[in-house]
Amino acid sequence: MRPTLLPYAHQTIEPDDLAAVNAALTADWITQGPLVARFERALAEHARVKHAIAVTSGTAALQAACWAAGLGPGDEAITTPLTFAATANAVAYQGAQPVFADIDGSTLNIALDAVKRVATERTRVLVAVDYAGLPCEYDRLVPLAREHGWIVIADAAHSFGGATDGRPVGALADMTTLSFHPAKLITTGEGGAVLTDRDDLAERLRTVRHHGIRYPEPARPWRYEIPEPGNNYRLTDFQSALGLSQLGKLDRFWQRRDRLARRYRECLSGSRFVELPALPDGARHGWHLFVVMLRLERLSVDRDTIVEALRAENIGATVHYPLIFRHPFYRERLGGAVGLCPTAERVEPRLVTLPLFPSMTDDDQDDVLRALDKVLGHYAR
Ligand SMILES: Cc1ncc(COP(=O)(O)O)c(C=O)c1O
Repeated sequence: MRPTLLPYAHQTIEPDDLAAVNAALTADWITQGPLVARFERALAEHARVKHAIAVTSGTAALQAACWAAGLGPGDEAITTPLTFAATANAVAYQGAQPVFADIDGSTLNIALDAVKRVATERTRVLVAVDYAGLPCEYDRLVPLAREHGWIVIADAAHSFGGATDGRPVGALADMTTLSFHPAKLITTGEGGAVLTDRDDLAERLRTVRHHGIRYPEPARPWRYEIPEPGNNYRLTDFQSALGLSQLGKLDRFWQRRDRLARRYRECLSGSRFVELPALPDGARHGWHLFVVMLRLERLSVDRDTIVEALRAENIGATVHYPLIFRHPFYRERLGGAVGLCPTAERVEPRLVTLPLFPSMTDDDQDDVLRALDKVLGHYAR
């Protein structure tokens, strides 16, 4: 057994990252200044979009995107139940109603047919989530949204660095939200961004980031006004220095994640006890998470027991995610919510996330595979 816990995720901070932050901290600006603008330009270039608006977290990015989309009371936004609660919370925070559409049982992303089933005349926004890092099928979701006049927000907290048919994540939806939390593909400590090609949305995103302030007389900035209350979502320059440095490493980090993920897939594809999510042709997975689905019918215990047993082996396995509509806030508003999304409800009790991060070694991965073998063999039915 390993002597120390292998976490499911870990940031990779290198000496040049430290030097970049140090230099930024001794500059004149330490809050939002020139490095935020540089970071935004670099993010937009990377994703081949016109605008990037840096904010304080992936949660702030989602809230800013929902605000920019004009979501409000009486509106509905369709989203997946298999995501971190921040996705649906951002809708609820605007006073709008999140509506959960079921997932596809093989990709684990929101299913087009399910989106069609739950849409109503009140639907204004679709918030798709690239679960674990696999880009959603925007080629079909966006045309559906266009037919109905919805705005598509891609929650790409897991998938930055991914692509579909060579088109990078960021360029696949009206707005794409990123997270730079340390577990994610690159980090600024806390941080996030919204990417968009649309000038009108970019302007609204910049406005909400800075309290909703507008400057009707640019030469007299002290005469600002607030037509709609916004927030303070401003990222700092020293975080942007880290972000710029990390962005230069995204491809290298991705290569390592991809190697580890492919090796997991090779080793586990013949397993009696786990099933792997689909990896469709043309998709470049972002590999934020490596998720497997247990074949519970071949095991004598439930998923939580397997996760606990892996943790007892010092493997930091975990679960992404409890379905959002099971959280009391949503459950109480959706009348118990059982049977709302049958595929998600069948899949969720089978999900296990295994460790995956760029500085993980081949030996670390061997430890995971050995522990998995031991635990699953022990509980074989
Ligand atoms: C799918 C998804 N969306 C949004 C967020 C929120 O990002 P942050 O932690 O940067 O606020 C997360 C973070 O875990 C996430 O996984």
